[in-house]
Amino acid sequence: MMHCSRFNSSVPSAVAGQEIQNDSSTAKFSDVVEKLFQVIPDADLHMDTGHERHGSCAVVGNSGNLKGSYYGALIDSSDVVIRMNKAPTSGYEEDVGTRTTYHVMYPESAIDLDKATRFLLIPFKTLDLQWLPGAMTTGSNITLSYLPLRQKIKANKDLVLVLNPVFMKYVHETWLDYQGKYPSTGFMALILSLHICDKVNVYGFGKDKAGNWHHYWETLVDKNLQTGIHDGNYEYNVTMRLSEIHKLQLFKGFSL
Ligand code: C5P
Repeated sequence: MMHCSRFNSSVPSAVAGQEIQNDSSTAKFSDVVEKLFQVIPDADLHMDTGHERHGSCAVVGNSGNLKGSYYGALIDSSDVVIRMNKAPTSGYEEDVGTRTTYHVMYPESAIDLDKATRFLLIPFKTLDLQWLPGAMTTGSNITLSYLPLRQKIKANKDLVLVLNPVFMKYVHETWLDYQGKYPSTGFMALILSLHICDKVNVYGFGKDKAGNWHHYWETLVDKNLQTGIHDGNYEYNVTMRLSEIHKLQLFKGFSL
């Protein structure tokens, strides 16, 4: 389901060329992909039956319901720990754990990773794929999208994976019935885990009492954040349903 191999030939042009976010890139998609795989590994990984299939996975969203949860040890006891976006562990170990196997990010949410962590890029637009090779090496000349971008990030370029853009279309269509503008990072990570892990434990998902997707490490500034362009309620309901039928285990934390 997930490839880090050259996906240009297997991605229908309707998906490959059509960005989910506004894209100022005029580059040809296949050229961008060609350049990308000159920097990061170009091999099939995570085919469903492949040797890379994982045992238990902890998918850790960024919800404030992790605060005071003491889930840290439990999260760390999974074979694989998946975190996302700006999630810190330092200072929050008791609640969120310390290990990270995969860190799921996109250019606007990228942080530095340690060299044993796998950077899983979710591409939302062609520019994201253009940004990556430079950001992993000498510095990207793409420094602005709808937000300023890091010119360089620290991460092991031999452990970079790029999610096939088709996967987002599949999740939006098959799991969300096209609700929300597109799936959230967390929901993508969760569905991906169902495909590559034998057991999926889910932490750090859920809005606060006011309906906002708050973070465990910060005080909410934008009180009207809600769940942004994503259909947080629909995603959460699907997650709860999956939990009820034992496809995953949802750890609800403390609601705030
Ligand atoms: O806010 P951010 O996108 O970095 O959070 C990562 C993911 O965690 C979100 O995409 C969402 O799926 C989930 N989340 C959540 N409830 C929150 C905050 C985040 O379900 N309060």
